[in-house]
Amino acid sequence: MRAPRLSRPSRPEAEDPVRTTPHRSPSDREERRADAPLRDAELAAAFDRAAASYDRLVAANPGYHSHLRRSARRLRLPDGGAGLRVLDLGCGTGASTAALLRAAPHAEIIAVDASAGMLERAAAKRWPPNVRFVHAPVERLADAGVHGPFDAAFAAYLLRNVADPDGVLAAIHALLGPPLGRLAVHEYTLSGSPLHRAVWTAVCRGIIVPAGSLTGDAALYRHLRRSVAEFDTVGELRERLAAAGFRDVRALPVSGWQTGIVHTVVGRR
Ligand SMILES: C[S@@+](CC[C@H](N)C(=O)[O-])C[C@H]1O[C@@H](n2cnc3c(N)ncnc32)[C@H](O)[C@@H]1O
Repeated sequence: MRAPRLSRPSRPEAEDPVRTTPHRSPSDREERRADAPLRDAELAAAFDRAAASYDRLVAANPGYHSHLRRSARRLRLPDGGAGLRVLDLGCGTGASTAALLRAAPHAEIIAVDASAGMLERAAAKRWPPNVRFVHAPVERLADAGVHGPFDAAFAAYLLRNVADPDGVLAAIHALLGPPLGRLAVHEYTLSGSPLHRAVWTAVCRGIIVPAGSLTGDAALYRHLRRSVAEFDTVGELRERLAAAGFRDVRALPVSGWQTGIVHTVVGRR
């Protein structure tokens, strides 16, 4: 293992697919009228500030790492990823990169993030030479020297944060090549059930936003709450992937308190 290079340029598992219908409550609509979610440079700056405490906060979230590992396995990369090129989009402090590496230890993994602070934390960890970090927004991968084709892409907690999720999905679709061309989106995306929406609201109000306030990052964790409430239900996300040209799109659940709140949505080019 050695320190990684850090570039600084300018069939899913046998589970029942999730089937849901969209549902939003009046309180969610009120929430949407409040200040808009953070985007682009403002969001990157918020993640820069939160980077120091990010790993501690997610470690306190039961299932965070095991769910990422499960979603990475759902890419079903053969032979430990030998000979494959894989993208980790919005890699943050490297939690999703570690999950990918566990699922495909022999793959070439290029991990990308727009936040220099989050990426510094990721790059400071120990990684094998087949892992490389690139500082870039996912909207400008080519400018950062990241070119396809890739065999697979993993986007964990990214898509809800970007200004143009359809544009990002189209760009990922174009970067994927045969024969695998697989995508796994791991995301807070609500089932559509009022119960799951209520659990999300309660966890945010009772735990996530107060914990984020203690570390001085209340704005980012309020963004988390709002961005999930405003983003697609899982059924809508499945449709969004299909509209971007992905085939065999399926949504799969995770265990724990995140059931009905976090899903893996997989598809292939
Ligand atoms: C919630 S964190 C998740 C990090 C990591 N994937 C994980 O599972 O722990 C979201 C990450 O996406 C990054 N991000 C948000 N929008 C981005 C964009 N447009 N381009 C690249 N990275 C972005 C943020 O900087 C942040 O590090």
